[in-house]
Amino acid sequence: MSVRWHHSGVGLHLITPPWRLFGTIGKNFGSGRVFLHDSECARLYNPLRQAHTPVATSAWSFRAAVLSTENRASRIADALCSVGWISLATFIEADLAVALRRELHTLDQQDALTPALIGKGPRQRLRADIRGDRTAWLDGASPAQARLFVQLEALRDHLNRTLFIGLEDFEAHYALYPPGAHYQRHVDSFQGDNARRVSLVIYLNDAWRRTDGGLLRLYTPQSRLIDEILPESGHAVCFLSENFPHEVTPARRERASIACWFRVRPDTPLPL
Ligand code: OGA
Ligand code: MN
Repeated sequence: MSVRWHHSGVGLHLITPPWRLFGTIGKNFGSGRVFLHDSECARLYNPLRQAHTPVATSAWSFRAAVLSTENRASRIADALCSVGWISLATFIEADLAVALRRELHTLDQQDALTPALIGKGPRQRLRADIRGDRTAWLDGASPAQARLFVQLEALRDHLNRTLFIGLEDFEAHYALYPPGAHYQRHVDSFQGDNARRVSLVIYLNDAWRRTDGGLLRLYTPQSRLIDEILPESGHAVCFLSENFPHEVTPARRERASIACWFRVRPDTPLPL
């Protein structure tokens, strides 16, 4: 099912096949941005989805061959504005996943990864009981990162054009979970700073089995378990940062990933 957004002068109309008007989102429209991450979208769309597609949420996992960048971005956009999340079996090409994993291991050998902190600014602190991974920020400079950044930039641009979501930039880091490490249940936006709107996690591990642990458990805003995602190479999961609590269960072997957050401009006071 696809969703078309039609912009009229009075609001944003949600129109679904067979092209009947399903709802109008007018809230926040005056600000020039429509935030689809709150409950409005789910409220408008979900009843229709249930009526037309009586399938489990996991049907939103696309286990097809690699999709073209544009096609993939439009599936992600459709999913974000309907159910709010999507799992993709092939987000990046196999050779790119290999190159990124190699780079991560080189960084690790050079001691360039640092134990992940939680929180932001003065609240930032080390809590290995909450998360046990080591991370390094990506800067897009190496050939592998530059290739990835082209895809991330294309996705950012597509989400802005289709969802009017105002994503200004993204930040991304490598994360390496040593055996035994986990990441407790959390949401990705920080207290007092909701600039992060869309989260994307890309996995870099070969032949991952369920018994290896390290599953990403994704929950609804009401804390119902939605899915458990295996961190298999090339797979990715994308979701609205503020709405979906998630956790990484203890990994029994080393687990590599890239976490990426698309951000809106932090709230800036109006110049008076
Ligand atoms: C994170 C995170 C999930 C994963 O870094 O915020 O939730 O599966 N990562 O690596
Ligand atoms: Mn997270």
